[in-house]
Amino acid sequence: MKWFKTYFAFSSAFCLFFIACTSTKKVVNQSEVPLDKLVDSVISKSLICLEKSVDEVKDTALYPTYGTKKLQWQLKSSDDWTSGFYPGCLWLAYELSKKLQFRQWAIDWTKGKERQKYNTKTHDLGFRFGCTFGNGLRLLPNDSATARYKDVLLTAANTMDKRFSHAIGCYTSDWDFKPLPNSVPVVIDIMMNLELLLWTSQQLGDTARFNRCLSHVATSYRDLIRRDASSFHIARYDATTGKLLNQGQLQGDVDSSTWSRGHSWMVYGLVVAYRFTKDPQYLDKAMAVADYFLKHLPKDRIANWDFQSPLDYRDASASAIVCSTLLEMQGYLKDPSKQKHYLHEAEDILRSLCKPSYFSEGKGTNCLLLHCTQYYHRTPNTDVPCSFGDYYFMESLLRYKNIKVKGK
Ligand code: GLY
Repeated sequence: MKWFKTYFAFSSAFCLFFIACTSTKKVVNQSEVPLDKLVDSVISKSLICLEKSVDEVKDTALYPTYGTKKLQWQLKSSDDWTSGFYPGCLWLAYELSKKLQFRQWAIDWTKGKERQKYNTKTHDLGFRFGCTFGNGLRLLPNDSATARYKDVLLTAANTMDKRFSHAIGCYTSDWDFKPLPNSVPVVIDIMMNLELLLWTSQQLGDTARFNRCLSHVATSYRDLIRRDASSFHIARYDATTGKLLNQGQLQGDVDSSTWSRGHSWMVYGLVVAYRFTKDPQYLDKAMAVADYFLKHLPKDRIANWDFQSPLDYRDASASAIVCSTLLEMQGYLKDPSKQKHYLHEAEDILRSLCKPSYFSEGKGTNCLLLHCTQYYHRTPNTDVPCSFGDYYFMESLLRYKNIKVKGK
């Protein structure tokens, strides 16, 4: 036995010595860089990309929508629903850098959006005006450059408010590929108008509009969220009676599946509803819907475009949207273990978005976030960058940085 003890002692010492030597040589890979350092470096690189993008886009009447497979921006006029996100990125770049050139570019690209304020044909005015005029007013509240922004926001919100159906109790859409006789659609994306509508109702002291928003949240949640907290994209109602006719998908794979970006719009909208009301029911709902999203993420925390689809295409924009809203939501949670949990979930997503598999660094492009999917069944914009992916990625970087600055 003596020989065994000696052998055991010697081999244990050797193993400890080996581990000590090799661990000092361990290569520090990116996942071990502290997240705040990684975020700082991604912010600097993103600002450089955005600076270069201004040369790529050039014309202030044109707006990046989706990237091509060669990672160049496709440009459209201010009519497109995505057109607010690029000026939005420029505003966030100004907020992050305080560089006057970003401020001027943001003002220049925001200007072209004003003519949309009377557009009654869209349910997306919240996106179009929040990212542009909303960010401008938030960042430059007393500046002559933004003196008209509040009026523009009030007008846009009045236009959007006209879409409310009292029969249904919701803001409605016109967008449907499988309408039923006399049906009116409500899509999950409309949750993203709440910020514009709630903010303007507070500015105007308009409690009726405020209550219309809360009715929209209640009805959308009731009819678009299934019992297991998964989601439909669309609910169809009888235009006259407001009766629910059916539910299903437009951008998702099949009626019974869950389109991940639509789901992320719901989480974001619920957190906004809490921000304006401080009613804890919205936080509970946001957590339930966020939990479904988080539970269905793959190991790298970047959502597939549809959670049940066998077609393996990611939508990094969906994860960016949820990351940003979790960073806001965790700040409202009183239970420290829940607060920590959602902060960690957001950090895990953000770390993944910042890695070379999703962040475009070194690929010679001015787009930021790779691997987004617009609408798998109807457009070729699958597995490409997109302007809303970039916007919510930047918002996540900014929100994360603000949390760190506050020392949380
Ligand atoms: N329909 C808006 C979106 O693609 O998210």
